[in-house]
Amino acid sequence: MKAACRQLAASGKTLGFVPTMGALHEGHLSLVRASKAGCDVTAVSIFVNPLQFAPHEDLEKYPRPLERDAAMLEALGVEFLFLPTVEEMYPAGAKTHVIVNDLSAKLDGASRPTHFRGVTTVVTKLFEIVRPNCAFFGQKDAVQCAVLRQMVRDLDMDVEIVVCPIMREPDGLAMSSRNIYLSPEQRQGALVLHRALMRAQLAVDRGERDPAKLVEIGEQVVAEEPGGRLDYFAVVDPETLEPATDLARGALVAVAVYFGNTRLIDNIVLAPR
Ligand code: PAJ
Repeated sequence: MKAACRQLAASGKTLGFVPTMGALHEGHLSLVRASKAGCDVTAVSIFVNPLQFAPHEDLEKYPRPLERDAAMLEALGVEFLFLPTVEEMYPAGAKTHVIVNDLSAKLDGASRPTHFRGVTTVVTKLFEIVRPNCAFFGQKDAVQCAVLRQMVRDLDMDVEIVVCPIMREPDGLAMSSRNIYLSPEQRQGALVLHRALMRAQLAVDRGERDPAKLVEIGEQVVAEEPGGRLDYFAVVDPETLEPATDLARGALVAVAVYFGNTRLIDNIVLAPR
């Protein structure tokens, strides 16, 4: 993979990169399309990264429909598909982590304390292998985007992070590889994430300016869904992830809800006004 990417760079072509854990859906494919549109050549990685799963999480049962994924990428005209093994990415004796302090402990990081150091470590390795001009990530994982932007800034990495919009099912549920874990009842209940965000948006449209009030509204909507257990509903600065103080400056409204063991996330961005 290194040799192929170095050779491409030497030819003067631009390389776009879409890191994934596979079980591809329209959300992933939208990133691939953005890369195809903006770069000469597109590389996709599929690697279910053990470092970002806690021991009690779903590493073993994470879906791995590899042939289907590869066919979808081929149909879109992806030039490079990188499928490293765990042993290749983490040979015995590896001792280095990349950790973005502070941001990695907020929101999803509060519930998953070792998650983001797994993400930043693997993405650093992937960036060094691929050395892309641009790397494409989904707004769906807004905290991941904030953490990675900070990492690229702090480590002077020569890559442009491009964040693409959230792709949704027709009924509003944000697409996720984990949606397949949901029972039919939970799948219906999962609409509460989008509903809570829309209610917050509506309040803002009607003139609400108090972030605490939005949190109250969001928490109440989630509480009305019997199958769901709220992890967080938060209104924060999209860069620092600190609680927003003034909605006029724009804010990220983010929600996480458990359905059984399945943790779903979603968010909207309020524009500055
Ligand atoms: P994964 O969950 O497979 O997601 C790969 C990329 O697809 C991420 O940038 C994610 O934000 C984006 N994505 C997922 N669902 C989306 C949706 N509904 N709309 C738009 N984009 C969506 O995120 C990871 O993998 C891993 O943490 C990774 C970055 C690959 C590091 O291991």
